Order: sequence, then C-alpha cells, then structure tokens
Amino acid sequence: MDKHYYITTPIYYPSAKPHMGHAYSSIITDVFARFKKIDGFKVYFLTGTDEHGLKIQRASEENNMNPSDFCDKISKTFKDLCKTLNLSNSDFIRTTEDRHKKSVQHLWTELEKSGDIYLSKYSGWYSVSDEAFYNDNEIETKDNYKVSKVSGSKVEWVEEESFFFRLSKWQDKLLEYYEKNPQFILPESRKNEVVSFVKSGLKDLSVSRKSFSWGIKVPSDKDHVIYVWLDALTNYISALKYPDISNDLYKKFWPADVHIIGKDILRFHAVYWPAFLLAAKIPVPKRIYGHGWILSGEEKMSKSKGNILDPIDIIDNYGLDPLRYYLIKEVSFGNDGTISKDKLEDCINSDLANNYGNFCQRVTAFAEKNCNSKIPSKINFTEVDNKILNKFSENLTNLRNYINNQKLNSYVDFIVGSLFDANKYFNDEEPWAKKNDIERLNTIIYTSLELIRKISIMLYPIIPDSSLKSLKIFDINEKDITFDSIKDNNFLKANNKISKTDILFKKILK
Ligand code: ME8
Ligand code: MG
Repeated sequence: MDKHYYITTPIYYPSAKPHMGHAYSSIITDVFARFKKIDGFKVYFLTGTDEHGLKIQRASEENNMNPSDFCDKISKTFKDLCKTLNLSNSDFIRTTEDRHKKSVQHLWTELEKSGDIYLSKYSGWYSVSDEAFYNDNEIETKDNYKVSKVSGSKVEWVEEESFFFRLSKWQDKLLEYYEKNPQFILPESRKNEVVSFVKSGLKDLSVSRKSFSWGIKVPSDKDHVIYVWLDALTNYISALKYPDISNDLYKKFWPADVHIIGKDILRFHAVYWPAFLLAAKIPVPKRIYGHGWILSGEEKMSKSKGNILDPIDIIDNYGLDPLRYYLIKEVSFGNDGTISKDKLEDCINSDLANNYGNFCQRVTAFAEKNCNSKIPSKINFTEVDNKILNKFSENLTNLRNYINNQKLNSYVDFIVGSLFDANKYFNDEEPWAKKNDIERLNTIIYTSLELIRKISIMLYPIIPDSSLKSLKIFDINEKDITFDSIKDNNFLKANNKISKTDILFKKILK
C-alpha cells in the first residue's frame, strides 16, 4: 500500500513581487515535503497564487494594467521563485485558471443546495489589504484612520447587497471538531486563540461582492463575484480536480495532511475553511500549522508595510542552501523571528563551512591518502564507534515524530548535535596516529564516512543541493535516498570507490 502525503503553502497574492516571508513559508513546506518523500511517501506539494478580489484589482489599477495581464506578470515572479528556492512542488495553481473557477462554482452550488447560503445586505468594516471583514469590536482609530486591531491594516466601510454563508450554524460543530482533533491547529497557542474566537460567537459571513467584478461569478447571480477567500481556499481541492472526487489525485491526497500558513491567515484556515467543507460534506484537512512571522525590526515584513528583504538578493550573495539552512535553524518554528546578515554569516561559517563541509573534506581527503580512495574493509567497531553510530537508529522514531509534529527545531538540533559529535569523534580518535594499526584506522574512517552519509541524508530536506553533492562521495543519487537507511551502520560497501567532494560552503570573511 502506498502512503500519501499532501502538503500546501498559502497561495500568495500577486499584488507585488515575493519577499522573504513568502520564501520562508515555501521553504518550510519544501522541507516537510522532501522529508516525507525520502521516508517513502508519495507526496503532493501544492503552491500558487491567489489572483482575484479588490486588493489585486486595485494593485493592477495602480500599475495601469488590466488585472489579468498584471496577474500574469506578477504570478510569474512567484512561479520563478519556486525554481530559485529549489522547491519540489508538484503543481503551481493560479486561481484565474479555468480548472479552479469550475471547482469554486461547484462548491458554491453545493453550499447553496445545503441551505448554507442566503441573500441579504452587508454593512460593516472591510480591510482590502487583508480581504477580511471585521466586527466593530475589532476596530480602533489610529492617526485618524480606522484600522483593524487584529492586523493593523486600514479598513473601509462597506454597505451592499451580499450573499451570506451561515457560519453561525457551524459554531458548535467547529468546537466539537477542535475538541475531537486536538492536533488540528498547531502550535497549541494558536489553537487557543481560534477556540476563543469561535466561542465568542460566530456571525454569518458575507461571501459575495457586487461593487467590483474581478472575481469568479456567483453561478446563480452574475451580478455578484464570490468572496476572494472562499475562492482562494478552494485551491487546495481544485488542484486535486474537485468536484471529480473519484479521480486518483483527490482520492489519494484529500484530506490534506497539513496546510502550512502564517499566523496572519489562521482564522480563514481554521474557522472558515473547515466550516465551508463541513457544510459541503467534504472531509476537513488534518492539520493547520500557523507559523510565526519574519520580522523587519519589530514589525511584520510585508508588502503593505514596504519593509521587505528580497530573498533573491540574499541568494545572489550567499547562495540558496545557506539561506534555507539559516531560516530553518535560526527562526524558532512557530514563533516570530528577525533575520540578520550577521547571524546568517555565522551560520555559514560555523555550522555549514566548519562543522559540515570541512568534516566531509577532512574525512574524504584522509581516506584518499590512507585508504586508496576506497571504503575501508577489515573493520571492527568498538564501543565508541557503536555509540556514535547507534544514536541514529535509537532516534529514528523520535526524528520521524518531530517531522510529523512540525517540530523542525528538534530535528535540526539533532543534526547540529550529530555534527558536533562527529567532529569530536574524529579529533579524539586521531586516525592520523593509527598508521601502525590499520584495522583501527580503517574503522575510524569507515565510521566517519557513515556519519557523513547519515548526516547528509538528514540534511537533504533542508539543503538538498549540498546534501546531494556530499552523497556523491558514495555515488548515492537523489532517487536512492531513504531516510530509513540512517539506522544502518554498515550501509557502505567495502572497496567501493570514494569520490572527492568540492568545497561545499565558502567561509565568509568577517
Ligand atoms: O494571505 N513572515 O496571501 P499573502 C512569515 N492570498 N511569513 C510571511 C510573511 C512574513 N513576514 N509575510 C507573508 C494571503 N508570509 C492569501 C492566502 S491561502 C488560501 C490565501 C507568508 O500574499 C505567510 O505564509 O498575503 C502568510 O500567511 C502568507 O505569506 C500570506 O501571503
Ligand atoms: Mg498578507
């Protein structure tokens, strides 16, 4: 039986080109996707762009373009970024595609049929920047503007005929769902936020707009376009060809294992999305993980605040893998984090260049000279060797659990610890002083090579290119990598050739 895993990023607004925050969500998602892939799962990894609504319509007007051309242009920068970040995504969905529009209109019709949609009039506050409605008690005045207390963005008063979704009807069912699925919303602190929001009372949700046209039309009333969040959230199933629920993609991958999102859009994913699905009798995703923000100074980095750091600049200067490693190691996953070039440089110099890259080089250079560039034979593990090698098999279940519970920092801590131990082992065992004891010398080198193999496999999801370069030492290719093989202490075959590696990471002069 094949095991399946479906993971998604948010679909981003192509209102301006991507920044580090978007890169962060996408890289994180890629790490999980790649891990599951080498752990034997068939993985579907979805990302894309969210192209309708007033926010995009206005952004295109500001750029003197029609919304469709504007979306084509900016969406492409997001699609290109997938390549630049070396994402292993299976698909890239755009909400302006026909396959998506059909799916959204079908879902709408299902919601109408179940009696969850009715026509009325909306009057209240709306933030175009968030594409969100806010209650009176969520609004405050700042510098003469009305802003949302939740996001800090400006709101405007909206009054128009609108279709409503009976969200209030689903309040108890949602609370019951959170209760029965305690891991549905992670991290825990976010879950508490959502539960108290739902407990405080859900009002019916306005799900169509009449005052502009850039959106998907309500099938039964062409004067209305569907609320952009109902449109956007549906991407997670439209990419699986919903409503064709008997096709393989949908059958195998829905419900999603995890939607990775930023905490700014938790309410939409943890409240509205499951409510729409429950109403349409569609299974609810297994998990919503709301990570923290990359800050710029004290503030969230965002297009609307104009305080962005361009991931492409960082990659041009330092390379992709250092950025990927840094974001994953230095930001405590789930919490907010600031990023600094200084810390990035430290990370490159100490973890990547010294502890990892240099270790790979030292060991292979030594093996070239003293073991004829071959995996040594005649080895005899002693207690020290077994101890350092066995840590991987002893922690195999823990490591899998870390990933399954999105405890990324615990996973990385294990790698950092292993690199420290490996370097210490090599220094303490002094293979260069064992030239009269070939069996011992061979055993130390074999053990060190196994450590390189195991650690490189663990690093594959985080820094795939560099890991693959290292694994070339043993002629291990991407398709051959299995996470499970890190438990094996005798994976490397005696007398197989060892290839030398290039310098993996250049030290930064500070
Ligand atoms: O909200 N730090 O799109 P969006 C970390 N289209 N992550 C950040 C970030 C930051 N400073 N800034 C953005 C939308 N992100 C909707 C989503 S999904 C059905 C529709 C990431 O372009 C983070 O994942 O505003 C956040 O949730 C997402 O980008 C918002 O991107
Ligand atoms: Mg946003």
